[in-house]
Amino acid sequence: MTTTASEDARDTGAPQTAHPPQDSRVQQVSERLILVEAGGRRLLTDAVCPHRKGWMRYGHLDAERMLLRCPLHHSAFDLLGGGRRVAGPACDVLRIVAELPAGAPVPPEDELRRLEGRLDALD
Ligand code: FES
Repeated sequence: MTTTASEDARDTGAPQTAHPPQDSRVQQVSERLILVEAGGRRLLTDAVCPHRKGWMRYGHLDAERMLLRCPLHHSAFDLLGGGRRVAGPACDVLRIVAELPAGAPVPPEDELRRLEGRLDALD
């Protein structure tokens, strides 16, 4: 008997989505920056929410829409729209300091510190 991918997912109890996100994740890479990887994009952003400093590494990433939602009060930020807020109480953008090329390693510590300096320049 042949089964489809969605039937296989149901059989294993795995979550079912129409287009499962591939290689999507959020990771803290320095004290002030997170790396958001989704849809082939790799963005270095502020590690904290502009509203009340929620830790964005614990946020929900909608990889298909490239939205990152704060875990505290659920502001959502459009990562392809310059980090602009699309929902929730935040007033400011989620600051994006750089986009890394596909396959490039996470920058070394001294480069990450230099990129953290861009956060202050974006205020
Ligand atoms: S701290 Fe992020 S929405 Fe309030």
